[in-house]
Amino acid sequence: LFSAVAMAPRDPILGLNEQFNADTNPAKVNLGVGVYYDENGKLPLLRCVAEAEAGMQAAPKARGYLPIDGIAAYDKAVQGLVFGADSDILKAGRVATVQAIGGTGGLKIGADFLQKLNPAAKVLISDPSWENHRALFTNAGFTVDAYPYYDAENRGINFAGMLAALNAAPARTVVVLHACCHNPTGYDLTAAQWEQVVAAVKARGLVAFLDMAYQGFGEGIAEDGAVIQQFLAAGLDFFVSTSFSKSFSLYGERVGALSVVCASADETAKVLSQLKIVIRTNYSNPPTHGAQVVATVLGTPALRSMWEEELAGMRVRIKAMRGALVAALKAAGVTADLEFVTRQKGMFSYSGLNAAQMQRLRSEFGIYGVDSGRICVAALNEKNLPAVAAAMAAVMRG
Ligand code: LMR
Repeated sequence: LFSAVAMAPRDPILGLNEQFNADTNPAKVNLGVGVYYDENGKLPLLRCVAEAEAGMQAAPKARGYLPIDGIAAYDKAVQGLVFGADSDILKAGRVATVQAIGGTGGLKIGADFLQKLNPAAKVLISDPSWENHRALFTNAGFTVDAYPYYDAENRGINFAGMLAALNAAPARTVVVLHACCHNPTGYDLTAAQWEQVVAAVKARGLVAFLDMAYQGFGEGIAEDGAVIQQFLAAGLDFFVSTSFSKSFSLYGERVGALSVVCASADETAKVLSQLKIVIRTNYSNPPTHGAQVVATVLGTPALRSMWEEELAGMRVRIKAMRGALVAALKAAGVTADLEFVTRQKGMFSYSGLNAAQMQRLRSEFGIYGVDSGRICVAALNEKNLPAVAAAMAAVMRG
């Protein structure tokens, strides 16, 4: 039965974790996967999460099946966070939100629904994009192409190229956009550029699918979600996937959501009914724990402010590490202009290192980053920084 099965390649990001775990180098540093580690190199358990869980443990509940679309209070909390609790769109009942198994789950539910709705549509992702975007939409049955995004020469965004690609796309093309903290480059569009993207999406009749996995890691919760308001103001129907893996440090709980903005409450009810079929036929209904924690934190004012402070703490520390990395690289003798590292947003820096340099970082120094040159600055700390900077400087020298 399996004699013709070929060996699949390792996952470009999670596969690195396997390699990292097997590495016996005591000085190894994992800058591969997008995970925030604190100043001691530890994965944090947020205080707001621990307190919500303590409350839940004090009054333990039996675990029945959740509704197919998840915990109602969770879905409502997600909507408040993404669209603004008092927003007209929510009052009008024009958003269908379902609990999903992480942000990836949200993307997959949306992809499966779109495939049923419009199987001939193409999907456009950014060049480059999160490695899993192409694979996920391809596996959902779509042809996936890319729109220009990264401008290597100018260390920024090829915005003219991006806009031209959107303006040339046929109606109903699904355009996957990173709402904030672009993964992998760290370069985000300005509000004025977003305005032009929104206009192109509207003029061409494209379907925007916003991946918002890092809300709160760029400039702030509202600031990072501002693009959603721009899409709403244009009166568009669109998709938003949400992840709480990073913002709640709940990676292993797989807590995410998909929200679909529709034209009317009636349409919303129909779309929701279809999303539920996608979920039911994939994994029946979602798990309880992580979503209950997030719903409790977001729905309890004291815990919510604690969360906002803890998230701000992570954001500020990442920014500090960007500055410290630039300083350490300069101190290690790198003369090139590295200020671009501090202009990038979120967990990642597109370092500009090539695949050979990234492989050398791994094999010679035990420093793990993605072959694309992406490093996770959220895993840097004062202790590992000198070794990381020295290793990067060595591979840059050649
Ligand atoms: C990443 O890009 O490293 C994260 O989004 C984790 C993942 O699932 O790839």
